[in-house]
Amino acid sequence: MTSSSPKILLLGKDSQLGWELRRSLSTIGPLMACDRQSVNLENADELRSQIRLHQPAFIVNTAAYTAVDKAETEQAKAYQINETAVRILAEEASRLGSWLVHYSTDYVFDGEKAGPYTEEDRPRPLNVYGHSKAAGEVAIRDVGCKYLIVRSGWLYSVHGSNFPWAILRRAIERDQIEVVADSFGAPTSAHLVADITAAMLGQLNSLHKPEELSGTYHLTASGETSWYDFAQFLLGLAHNRGLPIKANPNHVFPVTGASYAAAAIRPKNSRLDTSLLRDRFRVYLPDWKLHARRFIEEVARSRLL
Ligand SMILES: NC(=O)c1ccc[n+]([C@@H]2O[C@H](COP(=O)([O-])OP(=O)(O)OC[C@H]3O[C@@H](n4cnc5c(N)ncnc54)[C@H](OP(=O)(O)O)[C@@H]3O)[C@@H](O)[C@H]2O)c1
Repeated sequence: MTSSSPKILLLGKDSQLGWELRRSLSTIGPLMACDRQSVNLENADELRSQIRLHQPAFIVNTAAYTAVDKAETEQAKAYQINETAVRILAEEASRLGSWLVHYSTDYVFDGEKAGPYTEEDRPRPLNVYGHSKAAGEVAIRDVGCKYLIVRSGWLYSVHGSNFPWAILRRAIERDQIEVVADSFGAPTSAHLVADITAAMLGQLNSLHKPEELSGTYHLTASGETSWYDFAQFLLGLAHNRGLPIKANPNHVFPVTGASYAAAAIRPKNSRLDTSLLRDRFRVYLPDWKLHARRFIEEVARSRLL
């Protein structure tokens, strides 16, 4: 690939990740950012025709069926968006000789491993969402286009529905809250995933044989924590910053994941080994606390609470 500016088609521009990618990919090449109204992943013809119309060098797909509990009863829809549409993206990328950049999840694993999961570990999802995302990955590899499958976990952003916002909202309403303490992972900001994606695309665009980097990569912040410790950390920062919360870190109580009656089972171990990504793309992944601090700072400065 030459170092000219490649055309990028971004799908899911209003997802947590899509919002951040709109910023970080804008320095890589001309960006065509689409939402569900302009490209619906459930409409195969529309999907194909939009890709053929724009002929992007990179198709970056953040759009997905992400309602983990609802997926248990909307199986067909989850597979339609997370597998069938992804296969079409891969086929169109292959036809054009383009790259497909697609995001996947720690939920492809069952969380039973003692240490962090590597890209070599076999997926074994526990819920429909995880199965559908794993099926999307298989579809991309089956088609055989040039691809980056970027698996992340515990994703959050100031723009979106996620764990930090749920904790802040609960802490405003109640003077004590319960949080799951037996699940472990690395809270990862969409901001970080977007910046690293841009760095990856920048490298692909400048290499003589970028296809050698085609593959699956784990991308999370460094370090690890539990949901419980993460909640305490966030509320400590929020308390110190004077945000209007009733529950401070001393009012957070640990519970087991099993005590939550959610429709979908979640993996307890969401830790992903990121060494392959760091080695091959020479990127630095900061500790999760860095972006968690930034999250609270952004909420406070923008008066979002
Ligand atoms: N959130 C996490 O913790 C996490 C962890 C690991 C990996 N991931 C993966 O990372 C990616 C981005 O996640 P996210 O949390 O940023 O997503 P998100 O905020 O939940 O947004 C999902 C997006 O997909 C769009 N979408 C859903 N169905 C669509 C359809 N039929 N056609 C077009 N667009 C459709 C939604 O559009 P509407 O707004 O119109 O509904 C929404 O903008 C996903 O692939 C997800 O599986 C997420």
